[in-house]
Amino acid sequence: MTFPEPLWRDSIDLPAFKALEEDVQVDAVIVGGGMAGITTAYLLAKEGVKVALLEADTLLNGTTGHTTAKITAQHDLIYDELIQHFGATKARHYYEANMAAKQFIEHTIREQQIDCELLTQDAYLYATTEQSAHKLETEYKAYDQLGITGELVDSIPFDLKIYKALKMDNQAQFHPLKYLKHLVQQFVEAGGLIFEHTPAVNVKEDGEQIAVLTRNGPNVTGSHVIACSHFPFYEGTGLYSARMHADRSYVLACKTKKPYPGGMYLSIDQPSRSLRSVQHGNDTLVLIGGDSHKAGQGENTETHYQALESFTQELLGLESIVFRWSTQDLVTLDKLPYVGPITSSQPRVLIATGFRKWGMTNSTAAAQLLKDLVLGKDNPYTDLYTPLRFTPDPSLKTLVKENANVVKHLIKGKLETSEIMPQDLAKDQGAVITLHGERKGAYRDQEGQLHIVDTTCTHVGCEVNWNAGDRTWDCPCHGSRFSYTGDVIEGPAEKPLQRTHYDMLDNLTSPESGY
Ligand code: FES
Repeated sequence: MTFPEPLWRDSIDLPAFKALEEDVQVDAVIVGGGMAGITTAYLLAKEGVKVALLEADTLLNGTTGHTTAKITAQHDLIYDELIQHFGATKARHYYEANMAAKQFIEHTIREQQIDCELLTQDAYLYATTEQSAHKLETEYKAYDQLGITGELVDSIPFDLKIYKALKMDNQAQFHPLKYLKHLVQQFVEAGGLIFEHTPAVNVKEDGEQIAVLTRNGPNVTGSHVIACSHFPFYEGTGLYSARMHADRSYVLACKTKKPYPGGMYLSIDQPSRSLRSVQHGNDTLVLIGGDSHKAGQGENTETHYQALESFTQELLGLESIVFRWSTQDLVTLDKLPYVGPITSSQPRVLIATGFRKWGMTNSTAAAQLLKDLVLGKDNPYTDLYTPLRFTPDPSLKTLVKENANVVKHLIKGKLETSEIMPQDLAKDQGAVITLHGERKGAYRDQEGQLHIVDTTCTHVGCEVNWNAGDRTWDCPCHGSRFSYTGDVIEGPAEKPLQRTHYDMLDNLTSPESGY
């Protein structure tokens, strides 16, 4: 079965914008049309800054379009860890930054009467083992130390054996694209420029001016450049590939037999499970998320969807799956986002990335900080989020571990061979194959046409793996993703996978396809 777009994109008409056709001069150039880029653009335009926003594809089609859209400062187990690594003051700052972001979103929605299904909900972390219940108790102590309102409870309103749950009340959920569509309109009305289908590929500094070079040809120049492109489209000498990894996770939007009791939930045991509801027309759908793994390193992606399906069936009785989608999140070495100058030598090239799975509030906090950095104003969270930080613990340990993992996959992929030949592939099937003795990636589409690509990732040369659920080639090293035709969907890779045209090849017939 082929599923439509994620629920958020299916239930909204978004405005379309032309690609950049000529050079443009502005004050600030923002790259990336997700929540961080749009909110930053909106805030800067309100301050009278002339902004151009570039999006490689279409607005809100990346992580923001694939979120579960919880507006909360309860970001899994995090506060005890932050106290251990950074001390109580920074841990408290993280909470305050995210609560301020939540309040900003709610205030904007109420003040501007944005119809985006904002709903106050309590958020819960729950433990399904005795061992993880102890972790919740430790996290609760951290809440207490930081002055965070929380409550340890023994049950949640599901027929599910749990040991403890940690509640943070008065959090929220909404329809993120309805909210952001309004910000886009406000930005454009304030004179902001948006260019879709305009991939940014590099920056070039010339005195006070910085040009963003685009694949289309024309450039956009300003005194500040802000990369909100998920993985920064430009790394400079910041080595962000080595300082982040990508996680992939899955979401089902289901009709269920049992009614949903309200609230937003996240299990702290593995595999994780996330729950919230959403209104879709006359139906209440339940969003069940989880089963995350390092991007490009999971088993067959269908098994992740099946695991969520079984969980839903057991918990609420599955009536039907209406939407399903997967998403990718970037995680930094110390789990705090990177927001600020890309390197100390390029202070006016700013980035916002690494929101883990908590992009609704973290991207809004990032936008406030980016706005202040452009305007030269103080912001209480500059030091917390600066990408220039490096703390020996845990950054160093994680750096070594992440990069050992990259090396392992770099070597493993080169040694792996495949016995599958192109003619073995049925319609809508993809796999790593052997073609004339070489490792290639092949997908046979619904019409029977073969699409063959070189499986060597164009970033730094790891071997990509087939993602059957999304029909993409995913890189296990830094999370680049490519369509089955080899086009870049997600960086850090900038160049497409090399293609081999099937009509140049002999004997690729399959009984089913007729080729
Ligand atoms: Fe870095 Fe593929 S994303 S090698």
